[in-house]
Amino acid sequence: MKRIILALAALAAISCGGNNQISKEQAQEAVFDNIMTRTSIRKFTEQPVPAEAVEQMLRAGMAAPTAMNWQPWEFVVISERAKLDDLAGKLRYAKMLTEAPLAIVVCGRRWFTDREGNRRENIFWVDDCAAATENILLAAHALGLGAVWAAAKDDRGEIVKEALGIPEDFATLNVIVIGYPAETPQPKDKWKPEKIHYNRY
Ligand SMILES: Cc1cc2nc3c(=O)[nH]c(=O)nc-3n(C[C@H](O)[C@H](O)[C@H](O)COP(=O)(O)O)c2cc1C
Repeated sequence: MKRIILALAALAAISCGGNNQISKEQAQEAVFDNIMTRTSIRKFTEQPVPAEAVEQMLRAGMAAPTAMNWQPWEFVVISERAKLDDLAGKLRYAKMLTEAPLAIVVCGRRWFTDREGNRRENIFWVDDCAAATENILLAAHALGLGAVWAAAKDDRGEIVKEALGIPEDFATLNVIVIGYPAETPQPKDKWKPEKIHYNRY
């Protein structure tokens, strides 16, 4: 709970240009703590996710960096039980959708027509959508929600596109499954200094 309050206060302080509610050090600590304590959540309570929280997560997603600032992403917010269950039935590794109240499908414009009328591929759509996804996962955690990135790319993406009526020129990256956590897994310690190389490999 302390973490959530600090994280929210930090986000508020940052978005207000910094006020006197908490110190800069506390804000830094809260942001870092939010990153380090995020972990995938796959069990959820039935409590619905408020619309304000959905918007905050989407704002965080759209704040991510993108190649040439193209912002090729679009987001499909799913809260209808039948649609969540339908996707759970179609995606082998996203069965947790059956107990989640919310999902955000992250998709990106992969194909576009250039000035000469040629159909071209945006080779950065995955990178851009992945950056947005991580921001959404971190925002969910800061808001006291749990979330997990469920892959919905390539063949799985075609299934999701068909199910949700996503246009041909778009590709989906994942389904972010979101809700209030009904489990408290320990964040994994992934710090491995031997993976770091200085100045050359
Ligand atoms: C590209 C990618 C695809 C993933 N696909 C799935 C998935 O289909 N189903 C699932 O349960 N988790 C999926 N995950 C979540 C990972 O299993 C999880 O992030 C990883 O085990 C590390 O655990 P943590 O998120 O708790 O740090 C995916 C994560 C990434 C980055």
